[in-house]
Formats: sequence, structure tokens, C-alpha cells
Amino acid sequence: MSQNNLLLGVNIDHVVTLRQARYRTLPDSPHAEPSVLASALAAEAAGAHSITVHLRADRRHIQDVDVYLLRKSIGTKLNLEMGNTQEILDIALQVRPDFVCMVPENREEVTTEGGLDVAGQRESLRRTVKALSDNGTRVSMFIDPDLEQVRASAEIGAAMIELHTGTFANHAGAERAAEVERLCAAAELGHTLGLQINAGHGLTTKNLPDLWPVPHLAELNIGHHLVSRAIFTGLQGAVREMLAVMATYHN
Ligand code: PXP
Repeated sequence: MSQNNLLLGVNIDHVVTLRQARYRTLPDSPHAEPSVLASALAAEAAGAHSITVHLRADRRHIQDVDVYLLRKSIGTKLNLEMGNTQEILDIALQVRPDFVCMVPENREEVTTEGGLDVAGQRESLRRTVKALSDNGTRVSMFIDPDLEQVRASAEIGAAMIELHTGTFANHAGAERAAEVERLCAAAELGHTLGLQINAGHGLTTKNLPDLWPVPHLAELNIGHHLVSRAIFTGLQGAVREMLAVMATYHN
């Protein structure tokens, strides 16, 4: 067993969902709350290793001004989740986040519902990965734990994969155990191919221990549970609770 150095990326999209519920027409008003920047700084103060935001084509939560503000103000790393479109790529090339995670996106979904089909769009993703990498951003592919998608991610030049844990989170018992096996196989293959292995979606302090058989995990990206817990504990308390559970992971 090696040292535990599992990192936490805190996704603050839903802090902004709350702000937009009231201030959609005035996102940069001095009265707009909760503050995206204050929430990022609180997460960092509690030990978060990076701040994750998803700039969606429909701008339902995070706005362009939020991304620029975070880029110049946070002290840790900025991870931008994005769909593979020219509009968002142009913004990412200007913002120069530390990391980009490529995600599928469709307008009707409530949240990101499945992994990206990397194998089905190799050429356009290869171009996006190259443009971002040449600009100093490390690129990740958000994929289901599917070996073909892992191979395709390595083949197009991604540095990292983020394994979609939604199916894991939404099932229990034998179905969850079967998904853990798929996640283990995908993580092993990705590691062998030289990819950094991240994971995210639907992770909570309760379900994380069931994920621990998965080897080589480097970073988890977690949002909904942390922002939900923050109502009761404050965001710093929620981040600390999560980090305490993450400290029980051994690679
Ligand atoms: N990783 C990716 C790529 C996502 O799209 C999301 C959801 O925005 C997350 C992680 C975080 O998922 P959750 O909000 O369920 O923790």
C-alpha cells in the first residue's frame, strides 16, 4: 500500500445555482449572493485542492464572469468542465484553467448523465486536447468505466480520465459491486496506459468507502453532496467531513 494523497476538487456549480435562482439577471451585482468567490475561498480554507466549475452552453449556473473571477482569485487549481464546442473552447483558451475535463452535454439533462463517447469522436477531441495542452492546460475525459473509452482517451492524448461514478452511486448491493469491478478494470487499464485516474459524480461521505477497492485514484470531483451538506454544516465543515473520509483511501 502506498501513501494516501487523494485530492479533492470541490464543484461549486450549485452555489451558483442558488445565486441564479434570485439574481439571474444581475449575476455580478454587489448584492448577488451566495458569492461564488467566497465559496471557493471557503472550500480552499478547509483543504480543497482545486475548484471545479462547469460552464454550460445554456449558462444555467456558472457564468463567464465567474470563471474569469475564479481564475484570477483562487489560490489552488481551477478545473473547468466543458462540452466540446468551439464557443467554450475559445473561452478555455483565454482563461487557461489548470485542468479541463471534457464532458458530454445536452440541454435537457438535469446534470451530466453519462460519460463522453471519446471513441466515437476521436478526431475532434484530439484537436481540442491538443489546443488546450499546447496552451498549458491538462485535459481529462469524463468517461464511463468502459475499456474502449479508456483506450480511446489515451490514444487521443488526454493526460487524465475521470471515471463516471453515477451508476455506482445510484445502485446498491450486487449492482454496485458489479460497477465497482468495472471501475477497477478501467482504473487498472488507464494507469497502465499512463493516464491519471480521477473519479466523480454522485459521491458522498456515505458511499465513498464502497469505492475504495478502485486502485490508482488521484482526485475526486464532488459537488452536489458538499453543497447540500453545507446548508447544515457550512461549506468548510462539509469539505472537512469529506476530506476525513478520503483520508481512509489507500492506493
Ligand atoms: N465530475 C463531472 C465531470 C461532473 O459533470 C459532475 C457534475 O457536475 C461532477 C463531477 C460532480 O458530481 P456531483 O455534483 O454529483 O458531486
